[in-house]
Amino acid sequence: MKILILHGPNLNLLGTREPEVYGSMTLNDINEKMIALGKELGVEVVCQHSNHEGTLIDVLHDARTWAGGVVFNPGGYTHTSVALRDAISAIVIPVIEVHLSNVYAREEFRHVSFVSAVCKGKVTGFGWRSYELGLRGLVDIIKM
Ligand code: DQA
Repeated sequence: MKILILHGPNLNLLGTREPEVYGSMTLNDINEKMIALGKELGVEVVCQHSNHEGTLIDVLHDARTWAGGVVFNPGGYTHTSVALRDAISAIVIPVIEVHLSNVYAREEFRHVSFVSAVCKGKVTGFGWRSYELGLRGLVDIIKM
């Protein structure tokens, strides 16, 4: 089984972007960890990133043809995008929403998520480990 790890806008700058909020690991570091964890869990992890809303939608549509599920950090689009929410509810595979930071401990606009209600679950505030927890949870529910 294959799992998509999908990163949204500005996450390509991880490592240098507000490290006090997002930590010092780069996107590549996180991807490598998730690929290794995937091997441990018996799934193939494929990582993709885009800064563009339409591309993220295209990637989600495509994922329904090959992925068993998605671990998705929609970045700032979390708080704005009806179109991403519609894409998640349009695909049948489970999507886990993840955030490095605890969005509820930050500005009020980050407390609103357009995607949470159509995701299978959500992990927020554990730094890069949010991806790890999301991936473990996703694989567990798929194998159930
Ligand atoms: C984020 C939280 C969002 O509010 C923010 O816009 C991001 C990153 C996180 O991983 O903590 O870009 O999704």
